[in-house]
Amino acid sequence: MRNAPLLALAAGLGLAGAGAMGGWAVITVENPPEALEAGATYQLEYTVRQHGEEPLSDLRGTVRVQPAGGRLLEVAATPAGQPGRYRATFTVPAAPTVDITVASGFGPKGYSELALVPIAVTRRGEPRPALASADRARALFVAKGCGTCHRNGDVPEWAARNRPSQSFAPDLTGRVLDAAYVRQRLTNPRSLPAIGTGAVRMPQLNLAQAEVEALVRFLGSREQRASR
Ligand code: HEC
Repeated sequence: MRNAPLLALAAGLGLAGAGAMGGWAVITVENPPEALEAGATYQLEYTVRQHGEEPLSDLRGTVRVQPAGGRLLEVAATPAGQPGRYRATFTVPAAPTVDITVASGFGPKGYSELALVPIAVTRRGEPRPALASADRARALFVAKGCGTCHRNGDVPEWAARNRPSQSFAPDLTGRVLDAAYVRQRLTNPRSLPAIGTGAVRMPQLNLAQAEVEALVRFLGSREQRASR
């Protein structure tokens, strides 16, 4: 059963013309903003890993900032020191929300992109809107690239805003998972056995501790899931 999605994926990559480049990549935003302030400068950083594992350097990526009802801003990303790490700096446009998309530059145009959940923009000095912890975790799930490998029906933003999830990792929809177990999967994935064929493994995405805990709470509680 687990082989079928992998074969479908391989076929899909052939069609996309990226086969020669060696497959697919996971984009992980290192500092996804929960809210932004109009007029402020933001430096978004992200990492691109082939198959979720191998950092991809020398890409020419772009970050697209689309204000609701406003003009699209396209910012070229530059290498940010570590392998596979990039940064793009932009001035936050005045708008109720912005949509941010990271175009990694891997494969043909439009092939390897990650669209974040829309981000609220405040006016200077205005208090930041408080996000419910489940919404924060959903945005994080999208921004970290979890949805590139995992289907998760509890994160509708993923399905709506990005290409359909690949299904070579366990489906997380409706699951309520033990906190210590999820923590171990996220922080030390190779210390646990593979699920399925092991052709693709859960990667080490170097999440911050607060990010790990937000995702652990989200994946570990029915209430978080039902609150939407
Ligand atoms: C490169 C693909 C990939 C990415 C990206 C990825 N995972 Fe995984 N994940 C896997 C695979 C594959 C497994 C199954 C364990 C294994 O074989 O290593 C797994 C296992 C898990 C499990 C255990 C599921 C179970 O059924 O027991 C959880 C929870 C999980 N991942 C959460 C996440 C979260 C949260 C993120 C984002 C921060 C994420 N994963 C990103 C591939 C991925």
